[in-house]
Amino acid sequence: MKIFLDTANIENIKQAASLGIISGVTTNPSLLAKEKTADYETVTKKICKIIDGPVSVEVLSEDAEGMIKEARTKAAWATNVNIKIPITADGLRATAVLSKDHIKVNMTLCFSANQALLAALAGAAYVSIFVGRLDDAGQDGMQVVDEALEIWDKYDFDAEIIAASIRHPQHCTQAAMLGAHIATVPYAVLMQMIQHPMTDVGIKKFLADWKSVSK
Ligand code: E4P
Repeated sequence: MKIFLDTANIENIKQAASLGIISGVTTNPSLLAKEKTADYETVTKKICKIIDGPVSVEVLSEDAEGMIKEARTKAAWATNVNIKIPITADGLRATAVLSKDHIKVNMTLCFSANQALLAALAGAAYVSIFVGRLDDAGQDGMQVVDEALEIWDKYDFDAEIIAASIRHPQHCTQAAMLGAHIATVPYAVLMQMIQHPMTDVGIKKFLADWKSVSK
């Protein structure tokens, strides 16, 4: 499973990129707002200079024509920009047109296996299933990932399934165990994934033992 970073924070992206484990970045309007900027173009260009892999940038238009126009403009910001389009009827129409033009689309805000199926049929390159938001609503988000993967097993879809809206490290473990192609994780969750208290205790013990003989 590949790991994408789910943020628009440049410092966090630099830090995570230096770990050598990040294959891409996903952003959305809320993540830009969190960084207190509406300059999506500058932020995207900065991210694309740090990250070699796909960088998802979301459209703000709600009609297919507007989405297509916006997608074409944003896709020209850098060669690795992917366009995030919400799964609606207009979103599907736009995705069908853009995928034929070889613009990679990440269909976002997917909350059901049927939505994921339709996104794949429309030609999306990525399908983002929002696990955490489903959990927040009292449903089992990971079950939707599981159902979508079962459908993928039976057909020859090119689209990669992204476990998105990741809330904690266990979500990542579950997504990997199910065989999700990608998990997009917030920086804080990535840091939690690295840490284990027994690793810290182990390092302290090794160093203390070494000091005791090296005096
Ligand atoms: C995915 O691409 C989204 O940006 C993100 O995972 C949404 O997560 P949230 O539910 O924490 O906002």
